[in-house]
Amino acid sequence: MSSLAVLHASQLVTLAGPKRPRMGGELSELGIIHDGGMLIRDGKIDIVASSTDIEKKADGAEIIDADGKIVLPGFVDAHTHLIFAGNRLDDFERRARGDTYEQIAKAGGGIWSTVEKTRAASEADLLLEAKNHADWFLRCGTTTVESKSGYGLTVEDELKILRVMRRLNQETPLEIVPTFLGAHAVPRKMNADEYVDLVINEMLSRVTSENLAGFCDVFCERGYFDIEQSRRILSAAKKLGLKLRVHADQLSNSGAAKLAAELKAATADHLEKTTEQGIAALKSGGVQPVLLPSSVYALGSTCYPRAREMIEAGLAVIIATDFNPGSSPTLSMPMILSLACTQMKMSPTEVISASTINAAYSLNRGDRIGSLERGKLANFAIFDCEDYRELAYWFGFPQTHAVYVKGKCVIGA
Ligand code: NIG
Ligand code: FE
Repeated sequence: MSSLAVLHASQLVTLAGPKRPRMGGELSELGIIHDGGMLIRDGKIDIVASSTDIEKKADGAEIIDADGKIVLPGFVDAHTHLIFAGNRLDDFERRARGDTYEQIAKAGGGIWSTVEKTRAASEADLLLEAKNHADWFLRCGTTTVESKSGYGLTVEDELKILRVMRRLNQETPLEIVPTFLGAHAVPRKMNADEYVDLVINEMLSRVTSENLAGFCDVFCERGYFDIEQSRRILSAAKKLGLKLRVHADQLSNSGAAKLAAELKAATADHLEKTTEQGIAALKSGGVQPVLLPSSVYALGSTCYPRAREMIEAGLAVIIATDFNPGSSPTLSMPMILSLACTQMKMSPTEVISASTINAAYSLNRGDRIGSLERGKLANFAIFDCEDYRELAYWFGFPQTHAVYVKGKCVIGA
């Protein structure tokens, strides 16, 4: 039996608490142990206590001296588009000249240009690119990511992307939670209703019979999929046993938050244009909001979602990167913490719960990851600072010292 003792964390940020997502004031309760430590056995957390107590029980264990640095659970990134080919440098340059996301898409950039490159790429090419991205996630302290398909838009290309996720999960230490997002855009030369039929009648059954995803998502937005089309796809997915996530009210207030509530989705994501009514609907439907400040920032907008109102309404808020080549080319969760504090007025404490335990529950993994508690996986990161608030305060450079997955060092130290 292999055992490991982590000692002398200036702050061991445990997030110990109720076995459910955290709401309202609970988002500010981090369960910090000063000069804290952990005993880990066979990749799982056995004891969490003061360093003095752990030292007494650490006989024969390999010692990791955190040496006055902070220790946190690995970040859980609940919204990414991790598998794609190429980049969108031309879109980036056009945006710098003042063009909008929608104008760029109409002019041949946008999601479609990534679809063309992704279709042309082999499974091996995509896996190679994805491994680079996985490495960067780990280097930023993230140990689990949700990952959406959606740059294929044919049966075979969507399945190819989901299979790449499966291999990535097997071949890297990063845990991948796959979501089927066949309804990310309407393919050229097809109308939306025809494509919705294809998603429902062919893609969904293949995805579920090959067990390639646990969640289904739809980009519910003008010019993409309207409320009725989104409802059809999501209802069909639900019948097949998939849980739901929804790209909702990102560019316009289309009522997608209400749809997410009606269908009891796990999450409604983006929500930049969601108003009080949408927030009330999310509360009554028990839906967790996933806020994505880096896509607002990278698109050059200032319309951030109403995080404070959501927290005050008692929603179990999550923050995530939305990592994708178009609207959010970052995989740094610390950058998201910074944006959430400075632009959405979340506190440096709330952002920690929103990027760990709450995200874990939205992915159905709250019992295994997202906090440092007895019985959970030993997925944790050590950062080069003394106070957890420094994670959001210093921005634009990595502060990661070391990252562990199931008790194994995967980055640093
Ligand atoms: O979450 N909103 C739709 N999907 C992505 C953007 C994808 C892209 O531009 O390639 C998002 O922002
Ligand atoms: Fe997205």
